[in-house]
Amino acid sequence: MEERIVSAETQGVEETFEQSIRPRTLGDYIGQESVKKNLAVFIKAAKMREEALDHVLLYGPPGLGKTTLAAIIAEEMGGELRTTSGPAIERAGDLAAVLTALEPGDVLFIDEIHRLNRVVEEVLYPAMEDFCLDIVIGKGPTARSVRVDLPPFTLVGATTRAGMVSAPLRDRFGVLSRLEYYTPEELTLIVKRSADVFEAALEEQAALELARRSRGTPRIANRLLRRVRDFAQVQADGVITEDLAADALEKLHVDPLGLDHIDSKLLRGMVEKFRGGPVGVETIAATIGEEADTIEDVYEPYLLQIGFLQRTPRGRVVTPLCYEHFGMEPLK
Ligand code: ADE
Repeated sequence: MEERIVSAETQGVEETFEQSIRPRTLGDYIGQESVKKNLAVFIKAAKMREEALDHVLLYGPPGLGKTTLAAIIAEEMGGELRTTSGPAIERAGDLAAVLTALEPGDVLFIDEIHRLNRVVEEVLYPAMEDFCLDIVIGKGPTARSVRVDLPPFTLVGATTRAGMVSAPLRDRFGVLSRLEYYTPEELTLIVKRSADVFEAALEEQAALELARRSRGTPRIANRLLRRVRDFAQVQADGVITEDLAADALEKLHVDPLGLDHIDSKLLRGMVEKFRGGPVGVETIAATIGEEADTIEDVYEPYLLQIGFLQRTPRGRVVTPLCYEHFGMEPLK
């Protein structure tokens, strides 16, 4: 399957790497069992009816496989994947250009769909509902609207913030799937599969260690695998053993729960400066020099999931579990 990039994004080495180890079919995709089972049914039904699959909204924390699933949907439906993102589509004309280039059965993937602006969203509604586009030609009193038919296509939208997708847009998706953090067992299978793909020798216990420290996230598991492989290659005989993995992960400042120095700075900062909270996310962001959005999208979901942070109406609060992990005492 050819992947065409609609927006002019450059791809880093890591992204190219990610693409090379991405599963291509639902059968190869590990984890997200209920999402996968349901999608398999919807895909089969759409193919039996010879229709485009209904539009799909994938949401959940970053790195859990939204882009991978979009590519798999295109592959399984036998269409091309066209990729763009909310911030890349600035004007209605940008979206019209993307939509009119689609072929029947194509999958249009819009990443960060919550960042589409209102004007662009308005163009998207009739495209999603009726496969048509209303284009306004001219200005002022002589302006007129022309309707252009579009081929049947499937929109796959991805977002880390389901709550920031407007209600009218959300309502136009027929399938809404929430991706969950992966279990250590699933991540073990994922890193073993990745190691197989690029022929790295990875021992079972080392795979488990990587899985445990990957915050439930395949992208992190694969990144750690690459770094640990570097240590194995340069400082050992290339084999990733349990000891080598544990040692390398320590050098990478990834703790036994997968927390890195930013998590630690965030949590310790809350304890030391705000007596563990409640404290607002903007305040936390200012004290540790990170964007509030990054904290909310990237760091906080996992800390909430493992019960180190709690959200209250007055702000975020550090939990006893967190104090215990860092060997700290609640300040009186
Ligand atoms: N690589 C990254 N995510 C994966 C997944 N869910 N299944 C298999 N390989 C993967």
